[in-house]
Amino acid sequence: MKIIHISAECYPIAKVGGLADVVGALPKYQNEIGADSSVIMPFYNNKFTQANKFTSIYQSEIFLGNQNVSFNILKVEGSVLEFDVFFVHIESLLYKEYVYSDDDVDRFLAFQIAALDWILTLEKKPNYIHCHDHHTGLIPFMAQESYKYESLNKIPVITTIHNAQYQGWMTYDNLYKLPRFNIEKVGLMLWDGMINPLAAAIKCAWRVTTVSPSYMEELKYNANGLESLLSAESSKTIGILNGIDSEVWNPSTDDFIIKNYKKTSVEAGKKGNKKWLCKEFNLDENKPLFAFIGRLVGEKGAELLPYAIDYALRSNDISVLVLGSGNKDTEKQLFDLIPKYAGSYNAFIGYDERLSHIIYAGADFLLMPSRVEPCGLNQMYSLRYGTVPIVRRIGGLKDTVVDIGDNGFGICHNDVSVQDILISINRGKEFYNDKKAFKVNRKQIMSIDHSWKVSAKAYIDLYNSIS
Ligand code: ADP
Ligand code: GLC
Repeated sequence: MKIIHISAECYPIAKVGGLADVVGALPKYQNEIGADSSVIMPFYNNKFTQANKFTSIYQSEIFLGNQNVSFNILKVEGSVLEFDVFFVHIESLLYKEYVYSDDDVDRFLAFQIAALDWILTLEKKPNYIHCHDHHTGLIPFMAQESYKYESLNKIPVITTIHNAQYQGWMTYDNLYKLPRFNIEKVGLMLWDGMINPLAAAIKCAWRVTTVSPSYMEELKYNANGLESLLSAESSKTIGILNGIDSEVWNPSTDDFIIKNYKKTSVEAGKKGNKKWLCKEFNLDENKPLFAFIGRLVGEKGAELLPYAIDYALRSNDISVLVLGSGNKDTEKQLFDLIPKYAGSYNAFIGYDERLSHIIYAGADFLLMPSRVEPCGLNQMYSLRYGTVPIVRRIGGLKDTVVDIGDNGFGICHNDVSVQDILISINRGKEFYNDKKAFKVNRKQIMSIDHSWKVSAKAYIDLYNSIS
């Protein structure tokens, strides 16, 4: 079974968030169960592309409206990656230091057209094309309705929605940039007066998945305008919970962390990482350490953090560490709190992959007060590293964390509010002080298996169910 994933991100090549982690792991686990799964993504100007050598395996040009755009398909030399990754190199559009920016319309239109042009030339065509998020949302339409891709229209295209908040809206004048298509079908790309790539994918893909079962249900009443479409197309939708790459995220082998540990050595291991963090960030290692890692955006409930942290630190019995970037006001508020609570609180405003691993390893609790969380990977990483997740019951968080009050292992709250976060932090403190139960729980959560094995198979079963 040959599968090509098409995505804007893939770890370790280019990562903005969880999409990269998923696309960097799912193909590997699909290959382990006998598939031939690869990825096609843009060639960005970043650390990975600068550090490696690439060979061009195909070159051609596309027409993007009135522009001729030349592109190359590149492959990395040597065995740097665990599965095949093909890169669409377009010097003028895609080869940038960033993944996303304001010029995404032309960049991702060109990416999608070049990717399909190249697939068209393959002697051994994929059995399935698997698209991720709105950046690849017009592929299901083009594969079905563009004249030049007619020979691809029997290949099932699957779309996975990682986040329905972002839909890739474009104005109508972009229609002329697409390869010629049956104009009577133009409505398939439109939603609410715009070209809407995510809506187009929901209409045209053979199957639509989301990254957790609960999120699939929630989308029917909260999908940023696509609720009725998702309900109408519900017969082809399914929620499949993400997994984690349990080789990359393994506290006993993780090269990023300060002290490796297993279940049997979790107390000493976490202590070593916490000690390093507390020294680095001027925190008290004898207090329970509550951390937050993530994009500082409304979806993550991030704007509540400065207020919740400000209240929580008044009792002077916890340490708090934040790693994140995003909304500038939230960044500033979090930064401005540092002098007020020096010794108990710190924040690293930015993106740092290594530091994130050390925090998962060294923290006692991870806060995720998300407003929307299609799946969330942080809570699964924290479980694997013996860190208790404190989550809002929503989306994938609801599907992966059970409250200690319900014979579970985490702390859950219902509302996105400062009050609920504070109540949860207090429950966390009480739990931490019950030393014996806390230690038992640490070992137990490290044993929860969220590896991709089950979900990689669920995707293969889904492909097989398409006839
Ligand atoms: P989302 O994709 O919505 O941001 P996920 O929970 O699926 O949320 O995945 C977030 C991923 O990005 C995780 O791997 C997390 O560790 C990582 N991450 C988020 N913010 C940062 C940051 N500032 N520095 C390092 N890693 C981060
Ligand atoms: C999105 C979602 C996140 C999910 C990730 C990977 O970025 O916001 O919840 O875990 O995609 O699927």
